[in-house]
Amino acid sequence: MIFPIILSGGSGTRLWPLSRQAHPKQFLNLVDDNSLLGNTIVRLEAIDQIEKLMVVCNEDHRFMVAGVLQQQDKLQNASILLEPMAKNTAPAIALAAHAIVKENPEAVMLVLPADHVIKQASVFAEAVKTGKLAAEQGKLVTFGVVPDCPHTGYGYIRSKASDSAWSAVEEFVEKPDQETAERYLKNGNYYWNSGMFMFRADVYLKELERFSPDMVDATCRALENSKLDLDFTRIDSDSFAQSPEDSIDYAVMEKTEQAVVVPLDAGWSDVGSWSALWEIHDQDAHGNVCRGDVIIEDVNNSFIHSESRLVAAIGLDDHVIVETDDVVLVSDKSRVQDVKRLVEKVKQQD
Ligand code: GDD
Ligand code: MG
Repeated sequence: MIFPIILSGGSGTRLWPLSRQAHPKQFLNLVDDNSLLGNTIVRLEAIDQIEKLMVVCNEDHRFMVAGVLQQQDKLQNASILLEPMAKNTAPAIALAAHAIVKENPEAVMLVLPADHVIKQASVFAEAVKTGKLAAEQGKLVTFGVVPDCPHTGYGYIRSKASDSAWSAVEEFVEKPDQETAERYLKNGNYYWNSGMFMFRADVYLKELERFSPDMVDATCRALENSKLDLDFTRIDSDSFAQSPEDSIDYAVMEKTEQAVVVPLDAGWSDVGSWSALWEIHDQDAHGNVCRGDVIIEDVNNSFIHSESRLVAAIGLDDHVIVETDDVVLVSDKSRVQDVKRLVEKVKQQD
């Protein structure tokens, strides 16, 4: 049995102005007419032996999460854990692990970010099948994607040679600096960490206990003292506040000796920026992706998205324009990582 855990706590600031604190990336229909969270749930249908779904999210987003589950007809057969504050992924996963381990100590968890795109669900399902075998043997499984640029927002994995469908991780480096990422790309023996994981709930908690016992303790109490509220489990705020804040990548994956990597070539993208979204879409003969009411003349290799008005552009190359009813973003396509900095400036003005 596989217990899917969807992490839906991030804010996706690089996709501003569409992605907002009150309505982040995972709730947007960025690639088709379903939200990224909705598509994450749909993808589970291709996987065998899936058990009850659990979503871990911030309490502010509870109705949006419940709405998506309802739409997928999964609300009755899912649990929604509400975090009173964001503590990053390691505590969020620990809450889920505590909840599962009580009834199924050796259950395998499949941890999925709510905001990724995977074009080939069946290839992903095959990788999960392999991951399950490794996880059952007590391994912490990552899914490795072959890198095509020295991206500094990802974890990098170097694996040992292996004849089996997975290989032991020799080195896991979360978000290296530019120089290091370039070295890894040149070296050729590194994967990107896709940010999806599989492990037994008891194994995760055991490893976390070694590296961050306070986190295991605080999250255990936070779950024990949680309260049921309609469709939701409200995590206890006082106990959860005492948990250290960290990502699974730094807290566990960089340190454990039990990590293995399963290669994944399924059209994965974490849709981390407007240029990533431009890459995912089919482009027209001039390399443009236009969404909504858009008219262009002599525009090439650009992404133009209109929500509420006609957007007209002439003589542009490699640009991003995103129009919403209160903001228009215009950016060089090579500068879209800086949207995060721009959002900080906007916040200071408010
Ligand atoms: N419930 C909950 N609570 N979910 C959270 C929280 C939290 O406090 N913080 C983040 N998440 C969710 C996000 O919504 C996302 O779905 C997932 O956890 C991963 O968090 P990100 O903040 O998006 O991580 P990242 O993109 O910087 O890095 C991770 O993903 C990369 C691939 O996209 C790492 O695992 C990297 O190693 C990896 O390469
Ligand atoms: Mg991410």
